[in-house]
Amino acid sequence: MDSTDDDDDHDQGLAHAPRIERHVSTEQFDQVSVKLWQDVSGGCGGKTWEAAYVMVDYLLWRHSLDSTFFQRKTVLDLGSGTGLVGLALAKACPLEHMELTDQEPMMQLMKDNITLNDLSNTSASLLDWGVPHSHQVDVVLASDCVYLEIAFQPLIDTLVHFTDNNPLTEIYMTYRRRRKADKRFFALAKKHFALIDIQDDPKRPEYKLQGLYLYRLERKKRV
Ligand SMILES: C[S@@+](CC[C@H](N)C(=O)[O-])C[C@H]1O[C@@H](n2cnc3c(N)ncnc32)[C@H](O)[C@@H]1O
Repeated sequence: MDSTDDDDDHDQGLAHAPRIERHVSTEQFDQVSVKLWQDVSGGCGGKTWEAAYVMVDYLLWRHSLDSTFFQRKTVLDLGSGTGLVGLALAKACPLEHMELTDQEPMMQLMKDNITLNDLSNTSASLLDWGVPHSHQVDVVLASDCVYLEIAFQPLIDTLVHFTDNNPLTEIYMTYRRRRKADKRFFALAKKHFALIDIQDDPKRPEYKLQGLYLYRLERKKRV
């Protein structure tokens, strides 16, 4: 299960996101398409990342097997960037509310993408990892959020905070293996969570070959 055992040390372009002009794309999934402003002038979150497709494809597949999977759930997308993950799920599923969150430089892009997709069940707000917040949600999504060493502990603190408020909060996380240092994130995370490698995803064999992983995090019982 431990994805970090045979690490190689490559960057996958995170530090060097190409500086292309702000533009609109159409991102197509099995059940839904999302129109998306992309703009990396505010940071690496302003473009699409493969891990986002892994997350959306899996959760839409779960929704196709059980249409109540997201019914009446409040869902929060951490480090949303463009908002692609949250927007796709908010468009396709009967969820109660989707909250896209990120740091200040991503706020306008997330808001523009909500408007572009005409979504009334979705909003965007600031959520800096490690900073206390008052969100109470059923599901937390964290797609490709493990890449900055200084943010490992703040990200874990935020995940812990959600599950302190409600231990039944479901957490899904996609991860792209890039650096050996990521092992520290997993070591820190395992102090609080069981990391369940999701094995039933039909697309798993494809993305595993690309160093992509999908986990569900379950809060460990506190002693
Ligand atoms: C690689 S991008 C992934 C974006 C999106 N989740 C996806 O999968 O396409 C990582 C995102 O995490 C956000 N991020 C990084 N550090 C953060 C922090 N301390 N608090 C909140 N968001 C952060 C970045 O702004 C960026 O949008």
